[in-house]
This record gives sequence, C-alpha cells and structure tokens, in this order.
Amino acid sequence: MLEHLADLQREALQKLAAVEQIDQLESWRIAYLGKKGALTKALRSLGSLPPEERPVAGKKANELKQVLEAAFETRHESLRAAAIEADLATGALDVTLPGRKPALGRLHPSTQILREITAVFAEMGFQVYRSRDVELDEYNFRLLNIPPHHPARDMQDTFYVDEEVLLRTQTSPGQIHAMREYAPDPIRIILPGMCYRYEQITARSEIQFNQVEGLAVGHNITMADLKGTLVNFTRRMFGEERRLRFRCSHFPFTEPSVEVDMDCIACQGKGCRLCKQSGWLEILGAGMVHPVVLRNGGYDPDVYTGFAFGIGPERIAMLKYRIDDIRYFWANDLRFLEQFG
Ligand code: DAH
Repeated sequence: MLEHLADLQREALQKLAAVEQIDQLESWRIAYLGKKGALTKALRSLGSLPPEERPVAGKKANELKQVLEAAFETRHESLRAAAIEADLATGALDVTLPGRKPALGRLHPSTQILREITAVFAEMGFQVYRSRDVELDEYNFRLLNIPPHHPARDMQDTFYVDEEVLLRTQTSPGQIHAMREYAPDPIRIILPGMCYRYEQITARSEIQFNQVEGLAVGHNITMADLKGTLVNFTRRMFGEERRLRFRCSHFPFTEPSVEVDMDCIACQGKGCRLCKQSGWLEILGAGMVHPVVLRNGGYDPDVYTGFAFGIGPERIAMLKYRIDDIRYFWANDLRFLEQFG
C-alpha cells in the first residue's frame, strides 16, 4: 500500500507539472482528487488492509491528499498569473480601460413627492400616521358616513377580499384609526399611503395610487384654519404666487365640503391646454370633519371640531413635472424613472 501511495504521488505530481493550460487543471483534479479519483480510491481501500497496517497507511494517504491539494493550488495560481501575463502581452487585457460604473438607484418620483409633501406639513406641525392597506368595509365606508348603498362602494370600484375585507379605496379610514387611538387629545396628522380601485386603467386613472390624507381635530378649529393650511401647502409646492379657489362640493365624511383649485401653473390663469382653458387646476378635496365621523372616532362633536383633506401625490407630481400619463408611474420604464434624480 505504501508503495502504491508513493507511486501515486510521483505520477500525480509529474502529470500536474505537465499541465500547461489552466482549463486542463480540472481534469487533473478529477483524476486524482475527484470522487472517483485515484487517491479517493486508495483511501477507500484502506479498510481492506490488515488492521496493523491501517494506521501508517492511513496517515500516509492523508498526507498525500494534503500534498496533492497544495500542489494543485500552487499550480493553479501560477497558471493563472501566466494567463494574465499572456493576455497583457498580446494586448487582450487593456488595463487602461476605465472601470465599469456601478449602476446607482434613485428614489421613485412618487417617493420623492411624498417626502416633499410630508416635509411641508411637518413644518406646520403635522405628524405622519401610518394606516393599513387592507381594511374592513366598516372603516373604509360605514364609519366614514358612507351608507350601504352609496355608489362609492360599488363592486366596480372596490377590490373586495370577501364581504367585509377590502383594499382601501382611500386613506380616509386611517382617520378613524387615528382618532380612536388619540381621542380625546387634539391631533394634527397626515396619513400617506397606497389606495386601490377596481377601475379601467387610462392616462388619468390607475388601479393603485397614493393619497395623503390630512386630519386636524381639536378645540375651535375652523374652516379658516383649513384654508390657511392648504394655501400655505400649495405655495410651498408650486410657488409663492399661487392663488387658490374653494368650490362647494360634497364628501360624505365632511360638512361642509370643498374642492380646491389653484390658478394654472402653465398659463397663470389665462387659459391653456393644461387647464382646459379654465385657468384653474383641481388639486384636492377637503372639508370640516362631519359630526358623525367625529363621534365614530371618539370625539364629542359638540366640543370638538376638525378639518380633513385628501391629496393625490401622483397628481401633484404630474402637474409639477408636466407628466401627461399616470401609467408611467408603475410601468418601471427607466427612461421615465431616470428623469427624477
Ligand atoms: N377620500 C377622498 C377620495 O378618495 C378624498 C378626500 C376628500 C379626503 C375630502 C378627505 C376630504 O379627507 O376631506 O376621493
């Protein structure tokens, strides 16, 4: 056995020295060190030796394994170095080429606009309140004063999971969660997040989009507070010269309700294609929190008042950056995304 091992070592090292190409090394490794290789076979046959010969032969065989493995590594290194040298000599490897630039990611335009909106409201004392995407019908509709047969609950508009569970169609249900957590303390929060609607996807409507809900509840909060907050927000986002127009509207969870327009940023109100010749761009919905909603949130409507608003950040980004199709936001087209950096 010892003789066999000595022969094996001689033969293996000779063959290794003869390997000239780095890609031939692997067949050498398989022939000697592989699962069915010569050394592995020798190691397996140790068991059939007489017991008194086994310790010495076993030791030798293991030593041989180490010798062969080390020799393999050394040969591999030197062949690799030789290969690089050869490449350099023939010019196949041009070390003067500039390195590859790592591709840097950037924030999605929706994330950027959400951060911008959050920062503006943070300066006015609004904190961020996170609420769930998967909601109960009760919170998304009933507690917001949207009665059972209201058109907004139509199967066409809402992704239902079952009779009671759905994907929120608006961030407004977060109002109820927040009020129930903090009542009767005053609150001033914004609730950003994704909303979902079962709708035809067009240039103007997507099945998912963000909203930023705003809510302030406390003593003596009036419509003037709402107006001041929204005028300040709009001017911070679109420039100090912006003017706002509050139009009467209706939302089930606010009374009175308004829709808010700003003078057109493209034509300064003169009338153009962006504002469809009206001079105004609609930017959000708002109102004074309905007494029923205050009560559902745990506030006594005879003591507390509040205002609320709902902003579509993708819509704000579309106006700000003149994006004419909302489908770009989730299309993952780098040619679009790379423009926001
Ligand atoms: N939830 C409304 C929507 O999805 C937006 C909205 C309007 C929210 C008025 C409000 C509000 O808080 O006061 O269309």
